[in-house]
Amino acid sequence: MAVCGSRFLHRMLCLVILWGLIVLAVFHLRGHEVEGPDVGSTSNSVNSRLLLQKVGDPRTPHTEATASTSQSPLSAAHLLLELEPSIDKSPSFSEAMIVEEVQKKLPSLPIVYWNRHKDRPMFYKNESCAKFPSIFDLEFNNIYWQNLHTTNGTFQLFGAYYDVRKTSKIGPAVRILGMINRIEPTIKTYCQFWFESQKEPVFMKVMEYKYIWYRKWGNYKQGIYQPYLIACQIPQQYQKFVPASVSIVEKPCDTATNNLRVVYNKPEKKKKFAVCVKGLDFLHEDLSVRLVEWIELLGILGADKVFFYELQVHSNISKVLQYYQKLDRVDVTPLTLPGGQPNVPGFQHMYLVKKWNNKRQNELIPYNDCLYKNLYAFEYIALLDIDEVIMPVNTMSWQELMDIVLPKARAAKNDTQASYNVRNVYFLDDLIEVHGFFKDIPRYMHMLQHVYRSKNFTKPNQYVKCFHNPERALTLHNHFPLACLGGACSSYSIETTDAQLQHYRADCVRTLKKSCVEFRQNTVVDTTIWKFKEKLIMRTTDTLKKLGFFGSRDVRAHIKSDTVK
Ligand SMILES: *[C@@H]1O[C@H](CO)[C@@H](O)[C@H](O)[C@H]1NC(C)=O
Ligand SMILES: *[C@@H]1O[C@H](CO)[C@@H](O)[C@H](O)[C@H]1NC(C)=O
Ligand SMILES: *[C@@H]1O[C@H](CO)[C@@H](O)[C@H](O)[C@H]1NC(C)=O
Ligand SMILES: *[C@@H]1O[C@H](CO)[C@@H](O)[C@H](O)[C@H]1NC(C)=O
Ligand SMILES: *[C@@H]1O[C@H](CO)[C@@H](O)[C@H](O)[C@H]1NC(C)=O
Repeated sequence: MAVCGSRFLHRMLCLVILWGLIVLAVFHLRGHEVEGPDVGSTSNSVNSRLLLQKVGDPRTPHTEATASTSQSPLSAAHLLLELEPSIDKSPSFSEAMIVEEVQKKLPSLPIVYWNRHKDRPMFYKNESCAKFPSIFDLEFNNIYWQNLHTTNGTFQLFGAYYDVRKTSKIGPAVRILGMINRIEPTIKTYCQFWFESQKEPVFMKVMEYKYIWYRKWGNYKQGIYQPYLIACQIPQQYQKFVPASVSIVEKPCDTATNNLRVVYNKPEKKKKFAVCVKGLDFLHEDLSVRLVEWIELLGILGADKVFFYELQVHSNISKVLQYYQKLDRVDVTPLTLPGGQPNVPGFQHMYLVKKWNNKRQNELIPYNDCLYKNLYAFEYIALLDIDEVIMPVNTMSWQELMDIVLPKARAAKNDTQASYNVRNVYFLDDLIEVHGFFKDIPRYMHMLQHVYRSKNFTKPNQYVKCFHNPERALTLHNHFPLACLGGACSSYSIETTDAQLQHYRADCVRTLKKSCVEFRQNTVVDTTIWKFKEKLIMRTTDTLKKLGFFGSRDVRAHIKSDTVK
């Protein structure tokens, strides 16, 4: 108190310091008030928020004075200066990084090529003919599709792929996958090819519109978007080069409203087995745990990679897909429906359930995109749903299975088959209710628990699934190739003693309602899958733990045991 002299100013100063101390004390008290029994980072942040509020609030009359005259409030300001809000501090994206990210999200866009050449003039002879369109002038539809409006029909294009397969009689070509709202389109169109080292485009008449559907399946009407594979040969003098991108236009000199990157994935060495899964439509159905069991089983069988397409999925399914994507075991391509079809979550699902034929026609896009982007990367491509497994009966992997199947197929026909099909048999959900769960298997292992199946297989060639040979398939459908290169689409039917397509469903497909009654009445135990029991339980459970399906405590325990190992 000695500091307080008789002079007015001194007294004021004293008062201010006192006031400052009181204010600080109050802050402290308040801070403690909010701290519950569970002291942690939250209460700390509340505390600092209070500090911030008081010090920064201009309505508090003493801030100025305290800040300039006393030590204690200064230390409060110090605290403030040291506060660290936790924000994303990763370095800002360079343009190159943005380009790379866009490329991943939109594989059909020739953004890398465009970015490299955007500043140089690119057209045929002069500006008025076939200018390379800016990627900002392309006409998109439902995010992933690019348009071409012609005088007779609209094209919605999804992807373009370089085809130099030896079996392809048309020579080096680019095949473009898309939908056209015409049946038997008669419109003449052109491809404008763009090459890396070439400022001018190269023209070629579109050679064919290959319909990826049979008219007898329905929806054979003008006006409905139909799946097509469009072919453009590469002109003789350019056959040594791979085009960077391609546009389809009605008149050669048109400035295109579409420009697709030409996909050519050719790794040093082919891998063995790829699995393709059509657009996932499971927004409300949480199939995450079943999906983990399925992906792990495919991994054990020898699938090198699973290619998913994603329409709408539950957040738990996203979590599973992202996890495997990081491990490079899964690839996920986002997908929408083209044209005026609905893409609003939920509504889209209603549409796909109701419009059966449209759903089927739309599915041909992901199936064939998956084939074409993997043409040179895998020996076999299987199109499976997530409730189906190609199960080797007497062997332990797909490779071992094919080792015994190939000689048999060759004996039947002295030529490579376009596909090897496996017959379908139902493992229906409700059969378990009759028999109960198996005690030595976790209940969440759906496939391991469901070992009762109908005695009969569905008829030969009905509802089969194949290992497709990408050297031979021109267009794929769910069950069989629709068209093949190098002759008719031969398919070898793998004997049921070698492999079976195990199909895990609540019910048979609609078209088999009648037989389904009999399927249910005549069942057998089939524990073929149990040869993978230990491995499958271990791997599935391990993944589920890592993903937090058993609560955080389990995860922590697990991480600990992992680091100990
Ligand atoms: C561009 O070339 C075409 C012929 O290819 C010609 O008719 C036209 O006049 C040219 N335009 C200009 C601006 O040079
Ligand atoms: C438009 O194309 C369809 C075939 O897709 C054809 O039947 C029809 O004649 C064409 N119309 C005109 C005016 O060319
Ligand atoms: C199978 O075809 C190859 C040539 O494609 C031929 O060399 C071989 O003799 C044929 N084998 C049989 C059993 O016909
Ligand atoms: C099941 O197979 C038996 C012969 O093995 C046949 O008589 C019966 O019709 C089949 N049932 C169905 C539903 O295919
Ligand atoms: C799965 O989804 C439910 C509901 O959204 C959520 O409570 C649960 O935490 C999710 N599981 C995981 C592993 O994220």
